[in-house]
Amino acid sequence: MTDLGFVHRFLQGRDNESPVLLLLHGTGGDENDLIPLGRELLPGARILSLRGNVLENGRPRFFRRLAEGVFDLEDLKRRTDELARFVESARRQYRLEESRLIAIGYSNGANIAASLILRCPQHLSAAVLFRAMVPFTPDAVLDLGGIPIFLSAGKSDSIIPAENTRRLSDIFETGGARVSIHWHNGGHELGPDDVDAARQWIAQQSFVPDR
Ligand code: MLT
Repeated sequence: MTDLGFVHRFLQGRDNESPVLLLLHGTGGDENDLIPLGRELLPGARILSLRGNVLENGRPRFFRRLAEGVFDLEDLKRRTDELARFVESARRQYRLEESRLIAIGYSNGANIAASLILRCPQHLSAAVLFRAMVPFTPDAVLDLGGIPIFLSAGKSDSIIPAENTRRLSDIFETGGARVSIHWHNGGHELGPDDVDAARQWIAQQSFVPDR
């Protein structure tokens, strides 16, 4: 589907009680990439999975970068607002007005989700961010309303130093977010422990119904 400003897929779930998973892939991925991960993290949930609108040498991303880990901040701002507008339109289109949205992002997708939380926190009920980094340093952190955020970071990630993960966590906590960090014994790639830890964390959130 290419309407609403993003190529995306919306997949119905087993029920309409569960939150909706907003899936945001890493550089070079697409809207199909994270669907198996979403299914594992919260079986039966509805899924809204996007493809980034920016191409870097033909590889989809959610915003432009000047170099690895160095972001085009003007573009990041514009693309974050574009994502916020998509979320609003998709809620209407798919009748999700009453549903909670959990962002599940990996790498570049986790970074735009972090940016969305810092710029427009009202759009998400929770976020699972695999290999996220500080997307931009806010002048002042908005009230994040106690949003639960799960960060999963690689201890030897060559792109994201551990200090950057801690700084992101501190920024979120300054806004009142409830942050949990899982440290994976490895680098930027995900391991089974990342997925297990995220699944357990999601299951513990009060708004996720028991199965
Ligand atoms: C980014 O550009 O968002 C980060 O460098 C992660 C990546 O996508 O490689």
